[in-house]
Amino acid sequence: MKLTWLGHAAFHIELAGRNILIDPFWTGNPKFPQGYEEGLSRVDAIVVTHGHEDHLGDTARLATKYGATVIAQYEICMWVGGQGVERLQPMNTGGAILEGGVRYVMVPAFHSSAMIRDGTPVTMGDPAGFVLQADGRSLYHAGDTALFSDMALIQRLYRPQVGLIPIGDRFTMGPETAAIACNEYLELELIVPIHWGTFDLLTGDPEDFKARVTRGSVRILEPGETIEV
Ligand code: NI
Ligand code: MN
Repeated sequence: MKLTWLGHAAFHIELAGRNILIDPFWTGNPKFPQGYEEGLSRVDAIVVTHGHEDHLGDTARLATKYGATVIAQYEICMWVGGQGVERLQPMNTGGAILEGGVRYVMVPAFHSSAMIRDGTPVTMGDPAGFVLQADGRSLYHAGDTALFSDMALIQRLYRPQVGLIPIGDRFTMGPETAAIACNEYLELELIVPIHWGTFDLLTGDPEDFKARVTRGSVRILEPGETIEV
């Protein structure tokens, strides 16, 4: 599995011959590696954890451009469907699907999920995390979430070896709570801190997080950096 961090919670995952984007907040993301889209010729699937702009981002535009399938909460699928996206895999929390040889499991996240339209929140359903599984590999993208002890259940059921864990604080876990997630509830081999440093409001420090983690190895990525995991 190849994993490229595109800043914030955005990733390009290459798994089982599939090109998968997660939370493609590209336009307006100050950490997005400029030029990345020009080098990307194929996208098979786009996974969206929840309906906030910094996650839904460019989903509709990219799904249309690449003919990719959007995998997300039912409400998000209907939303992008209304913008012309044709390939949709609507899901809800606790469910799993098989798409192109990759298993996608929608798992809980403690957060919110709405778009603001004309000053009014429009619900995008419940927020989620995702587990992606193929070729004996299991990856957990926690989405935006607070710490919750049922992360132990996610570990027990889906055995993720790699975790993409938010640490920026204010809107998600900070370094201290994210370290508790890794040390007490998850059993990850490799942990990539996400949702930090994008904006001044996200004060969580990845080095602080790394220093607190005693179970699993923390890898702090640069935007645009690719690792084989
Ligand atoms: Ni959010
Ligand atoms: Mn967010």
